[in-house]
Amino acid sequence: PAARLTLDPSFRIAPVEPRLFGSFVEHMGRSVYTGIFEPGHPLADAEGIRTDVLELTRELGVTLVRYPGGNFVSNYHWEDGVGPVEERPVRLDLAWRSREDNRFGLNEFMSWAAKAGVEPMMALNLGTRGVTEALQLVEYANYPGGTRLSELRRAHGVDKPHDIHLWCLGNELDGPWQMGHKTAGEYGRLAAETARALKRFDPGLSLVACGSSNSGMPTFGAWEAEVLEATYDMVDYISLHAYYDPSDGDVDSFLASGADMEHMIRSIAATADHVGAKLRDRKKIKLSFDEWNVWYQSRFHGESSLDWAEHPRLIEDAYDVTDAVVVGSLLITLLRNADRVGVACQAQLANVIAPIMTEPGGPAWRQTIFHPFALTARHARGEVLRVEPECATIDTGRYGEVPALWSTATHDEATGGLTLFVVNRDRHAPCTTEVTLPGGLRAVEHLEIADADPSARNSAGSPDRVVPRPGTGLHLDGCKATLTLPPASWTIVRFA
Ligand code: AHR
Repeated sequence: PAARLTLDPSFRIAPVEPRLFGSFVEHMGRSVYTGIFEPGHPLADAEGIRTDVLELTRELGVTLVRYPGGNFVSNYHWEDGVGPVEERPVRLDLAWRSREDNRFGLNEFMSWAAKAGVEPMMALNLGTRGVTEALQLVEYANYPGGTRLSELRRAHGVDKPHDIHLWCLGNELDGPWQMGHKTAGEYGRLAAETARALKRFDPGLSLVACGSSNSGMPTFGAWEAEVLEATYDMVDYISLHAYYDPSDGDVDSFLASGADMEHMIRSIAATADHVGAKLRDRKKIKLSFDEWNVWYQSRFHGESSLDWAEHPRLIEDAYDVTDAVVVGSLLITLLRNADRVGVACQAQLANVIAPIMTEPGGPAWRQTIFHPFALTARHARGEVLRVEPECATIDTGRYGEVPALWSTATHDEATGGLTLFVVNRDRHAPCTTEVTLPGGLRAVEHLEIADADPSARNSAGSPDRVVPRPGTGLHLDGCKATLTLPPASWTIVRFA
């Protein structure tokens, strides 16, 4: 065989964290409007929620959804989105130079989240606003009643508090494109004071401090260190964001995106631990990878190209087979680091760089990237196992030598089931892999995402052009399996 790997249930990393299968709904383009929410659509319910998108969200296996931004949140006034719809103002959204009529807001989102069966992750505006407005939102959302803001919520028809547990202290405030952009010192102080007030309100809240917008930011690493020095004892997570695309046509580097994501995770974990050591604090800060995906950024001409339209078609990337393989490899990376990454959100859920696409008044369908997410969310159960294949390497322009195989596995002690997730990054050759595993198991499912045409996509007219297909090259004999992985492919094998 060209490669070998071992699945040993005693090589445990950490339990599978359900919050790794998060997603993101921003007031951006058609993510909310004509995405998850479209009053008047033939499949919309009485609240205007698209039930076709709701069903696909459940099928995707999403556990948690971050809302309402993103860049949008940094100039958002949450009060605009609550109360009688006819009284809500139309505002300019400066992040995406769009018009926002606020027909959808906090209470509509919470109703959608309950129907979708997902945990909310709410982002606060720490761009153009501060401690007071953050506290007011949390009181409106979470206090039972008897105060001005909790009674306002009740007057808006929401009797019981929402009990939102997870809050982001702003979004990408290191980025000069962000409304209310700040230095690390300015942001660290504001995040600390907001966190102090929120924890006084409810010490049980989980708080996420903003990390860098991407690993190419000039302050990457230094930003996290300074922010965590100011907030260490008051926050639970630091955020990471990363988007990948085959820029300059470098597909080998693109297929190695997981190696870069792992490098980011380890760098920020080390930075957080360094701060903990300096502060003599044994607490471990977890990582919230709350924006990740494939995004063809070169196709977006920047915010200044936008002209105040209402829910325009923004960054609606149509994903191909290679993109799905990369998304599968990024999910493998998150699982490989399940001891440190406590939350992760694919950005975004519907239409905007999304696994689910819709047409206004028309159908909803699954993009190629839907499939590795849905299969991983459904079958990653129990403990994540350390899997380190012995295999060839690939020389990439951006990340140097990377292993040709990228893999993880999970072991469900309750059922004894073992699930292997593996990507073959080699675009030119299949890889025959010998898998060593405990005896007494059968292969119950073997699916692949691969195609003779790696640029194949799904569309409204051809929604199932790319779907996971049963793999062929698997032979299991006792404790050894031989598995043939097609070129540039993502594979799942379930043993039970
Ligand atoms: O997901 C799209 C945008 O990417 C988000 O609004 C922002 O946080 C990031 O830069």
